[in-house]
Amino acid sequence: MIKDILEISEIAGEIIRDGFGKNFQIEYKTNEKNLVTEIDKKSEKAIMDFIKKKYPAHAVLAEESGEHKKDSEYLWVVDPLDGTTNFAHGLPIFSVSIGVMKKNEIIAGVVYDVMQNIFYSAEKGSGAFANGKKIKVNGNDKLELSVLVTGFPYNIADAPDKAFPRFESLTKKARAVRRLGSAAIDFCYVARGVFDGYWEVSLHPWDICAGKLIVEEAGGLVTDFNGNAINIFTPQILASNKKIHQQMIDGLKV
Ligand code: IPD
Ligand code: CA
Ligand code: CA
Repeated sequence: MIKDILEISEIAGEIIRDGFGKNFQIEYKTNEKNLVTEIDKKSEKAIMDFIKKKYPAHAVLAEESGEHKKDSEYLWVVDPLDGTTNFAHGLPIFSVSIGVMKKNEIIAGVVYDVMQNIFYSAEKGSGAFANGKKIKVNGNDKLELSVLVTGFPYNIADAPDKAFPRFESLTKKARAVRRLGSAAIDFCYVARGVFDGYWEVSLHPWDICAGKLIVEEAGGLVTDFNGNAINIFTPQILASNKKIHQQMIDGLKV
């Protein structure tokens, strides 16, 4: 199955790369911050067509078209373009994120960093990879030596959920905090040992599914802000190299 997920990620990635920097239609979703482009929709259509053809019995949850229910133990969780704001504004940091669950457990996931041409992949129990090479979280155990990453939800103005005090707290404690704009890539940079930790609130299942497995298979830990186990529907996400996890939990208590 991982081969198929890689194949469809590549097809979707090509659609996105072809559209980058060109003229494309943009619509607003919930508000003027929350965009969807015609390329998000094209990418999702290609992914849906592929799944329907190869795995017609499987259920799908996709960001732009919602739930495609089936009486199946398999669920594909699809973000056809993670980092739409970056894409729409010409910043080359965005990805395709596809996770597959079996009986509520994530069994496989791919995040394709489109402009760097890096395929991050993982299958449950088999490790995590970037373009076929094994990746691991880093071994740093000091928050003050860490570079962290975070993101802010589109409804930040209405529901800040202590995002700014938390940002202030960890920015003061860590070496640096970055904000890239693609949750799936944020997870993968933790998995690869570039970032020591990542936190964000109000994420969606398609932002989380593939990235969570990739971090875990790279030896990292993904919980909520209290250290509790999460699922793809938990909007509070803390991912780290494990070693600085408790220090991040403490830093998020504001
Ligand atoms: C968004 C990105 C962003 C994160 C937002 C997400 P989208 O996804 O992952 O980094 O901060 O919370 O909604 O809308 O570009 O697919
Ligand atoms: Ca997303
Ligand atoms: Ca998206």
